[in-house]
Amino acid sequence: MVQKYIIALDQGTTSSRAVIFNHEGMIVGKAQKEFAQIYPFPGWVEHDPLEIWDTQLAAIREVLDQTDINPDDIVGLGIANQRETTVVWNRFTGKPVYHAIVWQCRRTTELCEQILNSTLNEYISDATGLVADAYFSGTKIRWILDHIPDGQAMAEKGDLLFGTIDSWLVWNLTKGRLHITDYSNASRTMLYNIRELAWDDKILSYLNIPRSLLPEVCPSSLCCGVTDSSIFGAEIPIAGIAGDQQAALFGQACFTEGMVKNTYGTGCFILMNTGKNMIRSQNKLLTTIAWGIDNGVEYALEGSVFIGGAVIQWLRDELGLLKTSAESEYYATQVKDTNGVYIVPAFVGLGAPYWDMHARGIVTGLTRGANRFHLVRAALESIAYQTNDVLALMAKDTGIRLKALKVDGGAADNNFLLQFQADLSGIPVERSEICEVTALGAAYLAGLAAGYWKDKEELKCLSKGRFISDSNITESERQQYLSGWKAAVSQATYRTV
Ligand code: G3P
Repeated sequence: MVQKYIIALDQGTTSSRAVIFNHEGMIVGKAQKEFAQIYPFPGWVEHDPLEIWDTQLAAIREVLDQTDINPDDIVGLGIANQRETTVVWNRFTGKPVYHAIVWQCRRTTELCEQILNSTLNEYISDATGLVADAYFSGTKIRWILDHIPDGQAMAEKGDLLFGTIDSWLVWNLTKGRLHITDYSNASRTMLYNIRELAWDDKILSYLNIPRSLLPEVCPSSLCCGVTDSSIFGAEIPIAGIAGDQQAALFGQACFTEGMVKNTYGTGCFILMNTGKNMIRSQNKLLTTIAWGIDNGVEYALEGSVFIGGAVIQWLRDELGLLKTSAESEYYATQVKDTNGVYIVPAFVGLGAPYWDMHARGIVTGLTRGANRFHLVRAALESIAYQTNDVLALMAKDTGIRLKALKVDGGAADNNFLLQFQADLSGIPVERSEICEVTALGAAYLAGLAAGYWKDKEELKCLSKGRFISDSNITESERQQYLSGWKAAVSQATYRTV
């Protein structure tokens, strides 16, 4: 019998990947292309949407060449994408009217502060599950319409379309035939009412964003169209779409309420499946849609930490303390502790649970004896501290005692980090054996819709062996670590406290 496959596109913040999976959920080929990060001013981050599409297409072509798989044998395509990043393009030319404004970009801080001080603030958090912050797409759309010639007029005429990166890819994959997104991505725009499952008129009218800009919202696991035959040489069903963090939750097989994953990428995104329950955080975590599947939606509680693995890149690229990120594990284990040094990597403000757009990075506790090993260790520990802040609040908000933390992403290769995480959070940390969990989640969503896999039970059986770190320190040591961290965070946020 001819083997059939699923292809997943993982369009992330720094690279575009294409990964082909077989029926056992194993990777049979993958290709990755990086693209430029554009920093026009401090705190601003952009991507060129055309370069995103070009690199995605190049990754698709490369993985097909590499594997020699006949496109007719690919039964479905899934998309996982960097979320919130905002593209506006002309519906007639298909050309972007401005660079993509990336999720990390802080340029709309002022507008968000106006919202935070207005009566709409509470409404937004209730309707969208989010916190008014420059992170989300809504205010980025407003900025683009305000800063391109005739932006508002063109939008009102219906000439412009908005999309997160999934929409932009689908538009290009279908040569402009489909303008859609899925529930999980829609829930990150700050324009989508997650209770009513509809674009929210009150928020749209506050931001003066015409409805005609917005994509149709579809389930995350559904054959919603086919790719143009010029892309693959065959029409492939587009059968799965999810924001990358929700896709990773799915790829980790966190199908049951209370299961939690953390992806240690550029940032850290900790998501707990809360099933049909839309749990409202009392502690500034986000309520978000996990996925739309089986004629309904399921929700998640999320803590978004803006700087995770990126703090190690900073040590490597800006301070020159490391040659490679992987070296950080060796450095961290050359000393028994950080010698009192704490790093709070608030390079773009702080996300959950602090939501401080003005906080900035800080290194505390420096003494004459502090050396590069201590700094590297402090940087790795900062990733675990930020994750732990979120985990503690998730347990508080839900009343659920976390049983384990499933982890993935680049920095999850670092054994020191995982052990410190387990120690600090007091729970076992389980690393997936499959490195491309985000792509796998998109493949699972597409494969279910395409009938390639039968159900979630079948997917659970595909879960591979895991590396587990168990907690290994006393409660008083733990409290000592945490009080040092708390003091350091208060210094990073002191301007706004
Ligand atoms: O919300 C932002 C997130 O989706 C970015 O993920 O993996 O591209 O850094 P990543």
